Amino acid sequence: MSRSPPRILNWAGSKGRVAKTLVAAGLPGYDCYHEPFLGSGAAFFCFGHEKLFAKAFLSDTNPHIVNMFRSIQSDPSLVSNKLKLHALLDSAVHYASVAYRINESLLDQVPEKSADFIYLLAGAFHSTWYETLSGQIRLSRDPGVSEYKPRLWDIQKASEQLQSAHVQKRDFRLSLEQVGSNDLLFLDPPYLNASEQQEQRGYNSKRFSRSDFVELVERTSAAAASGADVIFCWSGIEPLLSKVGRWSWIGRDAVWVSDGLFEHLRSAETFLEVAFEKECKAATLK
Ligand SMILES: C[S@@+](CC[C@H](N)C(=O)[O-])C[C@H]1O[C@@H](n2cnc3c(N)ncnc32)[C@H](O)[C@@H]1O
Repeated sequence: MSRSPPRILNWAGSKGRVAKTLVAAGLPGYDCYHEPFLGSGAAFFCFGHEKLFAKAFLSDTNPHIVNMFRSIQSDPSLVSNKLKLHALLDSAVHYASVAYRINESLLDQVPEKSADFIYLLAGAFHSTWYETLSGQIRLSRDPGVSEYKPRLWDIQKASEQLQSAHVQKRDFRLSLEQVGSNDLLFLDPPYLNASEQQEQRGYNSKRFSRSDFVELVERTSAAAASGADVIFCWSGIEPLLSKVGRWSWIGRDAVWVSDGLFEHLRSAETFLEVAFEKECKAATLK
């Protein structure tokens, strides 16, 4: 049996490695964990695997992601059975028909759709998808993809970890209102598109814009100032977020950690060894 955290979705840019580094650095435990840009949930699964919190508030605006987490939470066997069926039927033609039907209307908590989404991403080119401005998902099958093998242990394990979680479809603004002064907040917002004119890029039709980002930074700073521990992943060092925390590099991710937590991690021998010497180059702002 694997002893790694469960991995449900093949997700380009997942923050599993960032989370693993922070765990090795001695991330402490919390009563409550918040992840408002959930994506594949790699950080949640990593921290949850280490039992670092008693309950979690997870959210995302993407209905497929929310449906997937809720379905695995409530009916992992049904999701697993549907995945086994995908493994039996797996072919280019089957993939194309699932990619077509994923755009049919999505009601709340549909395990079949959850399995469709997992299957599609498992075989997708670059482990990613595009969404049109009208919200249609576009995926193409990686021509070099190998036989589809469902990760059934991961579904079961993920379901167990999700029992203590509230999974909601909501915008980050609402989710941040729930953050308390002793909680841990993990943020990995979508990167801003260089070319906002492109027809089919981005995570959803209401794109995450620069003004959303500025608002997120303000709310993050307020949460950190009120005592929450915050981890914020970004594509580079963002000067707006420099005052109440510190930036480091973990692999290719710039990671901002609020002051109190940074001091805690810094004092841990493992953080110096793992994060600074092996993976993080300390980053300073001028
Ligand atoms: C960079 S991904 C998160 C990836 C995740 N950390 C992982 O390791 O898989 C950003 C997520 O934010 C979601 N999102 C975009 N705009 C949002 C908003 N306004 N509020 C909440 N979530 C949003 C997207 O649907 C996407 O799943």
